[in-house]
Amino acid sequence: NFTPNAFVDEMVAELKEKLGNDKVVLGLSGGVDSTVAAVLLNKAIGQNLYCIFVNNGLLRKNEFENVLNQYKGMGLNVKGVDAGDRFLGELAGISDPETKRKTIGRVFIEVFDDESHLLEDVKWLAQGTIYPDVIESVSVKGPSATIKSHHNVGGLPDYMKLKIVEPLRMLFKDEVRRVGATLGIDPELLGRHPFPGPGLSIRILGDITPEKVRILQDVDSVFIEGLKSWGLYDKVWQAGAILLPVNSVGVMGDERTYEKVVALRAVESTDGMTADWVHLPYDFLMKVSNDIINKVKGVNRVVYDISSKPPATIEWE
Ligand code: XMP
Repeated sequence: NFTPNAFVDEMVAELKEKLGNDKVVLGLSGGVDSTVAAVLLNKAIGQNLYCIFVNNGLLRKNEFENVLNQYKGMGLNVKGVDAGDRFLGELAGISDPETKRKTIGRVFIEVFDDESHLLEDVKWLAQGTIYPDVIESVSVKGPSATIKSHHNVGGLPDYMKLKIVEPLRMLFKDEVRRVGATLGIDPELLGRHPFPGPGLSIRILGDITPEKVRILQDVDSVFIEGLKSWGLYDKVWQAGAILLPVNSVGVMGDERTYEKVVALRAVESTDGMTADWVHLPYDFLMKVSNDIINKVKGVNRVVYDISSKPPATIEWE
């Protein structure tokens, strides 16, 4: 029996009491959780909240610019840091999924730490951690085998002696969205699909190059825009494209081609723990496949992932 209005009132009062005149730093990701956490904190402490939005070079196409402008429009005290080249430089030559995650987690902390040192007297680090993150990061640390190291939780280095504030840590995703709606956040932003912290890096199987990022951003954009224009986006819990590390033979005019294969993935889920592939209409798949192959140079084949979780995971890495 969750009431978002009551939650907002109580949490704003609690944050005011807890934080007083202290300065707080928060990393915005473009996702629902960090955005709602920021707006809530902004309501409680205003300009004492310093938001940092890092471009890791692995976001969706044009996402960094668009979302940064949106944040500014919401009155958040936010700084955009474009560190794409630094991330891609550090990732060069790395194919192992866990090493990708760890590298991105490490570089993120370095960039974030550099930025927060520019601010004086910061006492707190705010995070958009939600309840399933808390549960899942406990379980992956257990003896039962590491599934994937989610870097969002517990990534704080010792030398960053900040206290942690996590206003959403008891909430489920749908509750976070309802709180966001109460706070007046744009419904389009609140309805965004989840997107992994390591971004497109774990959807580029094998090593990552700027060219592969460009291809995947373009493919993903055709797919996501297609879902929106067909009215399917909100019926899907999460969708994205995966760039496979294989070339396949195709034909263009009377030329033989030998180019990349992409997989499309769209799932229904409530919390990401289990998921079913979505039965997207064949006509939609046909249109999107044609658009991708015609518009994105370097791709000559599109496949659709029909695996459920478990035993498959949502991401391929
Ligand atoms: P899997 O692939 O484990 O994904 O079925 C479940 C949900 O978690 C997201 N995911 C991640 N999110 N850092 C994140 O912040 C990660 O390393 C990571 N790996 C997977 C995935 O997109 C899906 O929503």
